[in-house]
Amino acid sequence: MKDLHDRFYRKAKEEHYLARSVYKLQEALEKFNFIRASDRVLDVGCSPGSWSQFLLRKTLTTGSVTGIDVLPAQISHPRFTFIHASIAEIDAAELTRGGGMFDVVLSDAMVNTNADPESNHYRSVSLCRKISLRLPELLKQNGMFFFKVFDGPDLQPFRKELTALFSAVSIFKPQSSRDESRELFLFCRSKR
Ligand SMILES: C[S@@+](CC[C@H](N)C(=O)[O-])C[C@H]1O[C@@H](n2cnc3c(N)ncnc32)[C@H](O)[C@@H]1O
Repeated sequence: MKDLHDRFYRKAKEEHYLARSVYKLQEALEKFNFIRASDRVLDVGCSPGSWSQFLLRKTLTTGSVTGIDVLPAQISHPRFTFIHASIAEIDAAELTRGGGMFDVVLSDAMVNTNADPESNHYRSVSLCRKISLRLPELLKQNGMFFFKVFDGPDLQPFRKELTALFSAVSIFKPQSSRDESRELFLFCRSKR
């Protein structure tokens, strides 16, 4: 597995992406094909910026990305707007100012992990739930939500909450995500 990790790390360097996590998004887009060229995308926990880089290079020929993170982003692009803040505290109006609600909300956000998988899980679900509670103000009807979460006892109840908001919710483990990691991705299709 370490080889696979190194392979994606090297590939990201060669392709001038800021993080290897870019390949998790790429795999998800190949599987679920949920972003259109003209979409307006919110990238939560965007720093250093590989997901936004990828979208602006490969997918969004006319669309745009708004990125939000508590750490500075390392990209600049005419169709990228960065907001230096926590998603838990930002006013939704500040995120939607200028362009309105989003077609897609992505989140790779995670507070620093520690050696305790249970604590990582609960903190991850808590953050994802905070993001999901903002969706009524942020995500258009029929919009898509794709996010990282750490697996554990609260995942299924949280997934069930999301099925009330979306027409379908799928769990996805990309090959580029380490097997031993509890990280998973949930793809929520078409907000009701
Ligand atoms: C794994 S990194 C994201 C990598 C990014 N997707 C990329 O491809 O470059 C997770 C990010 O989540 C951010 N984060 C954690 N909690 C956050 C919060 N409450 N609001 C915004 N960003 C947050 C962290 O600062 C960190 O930069």
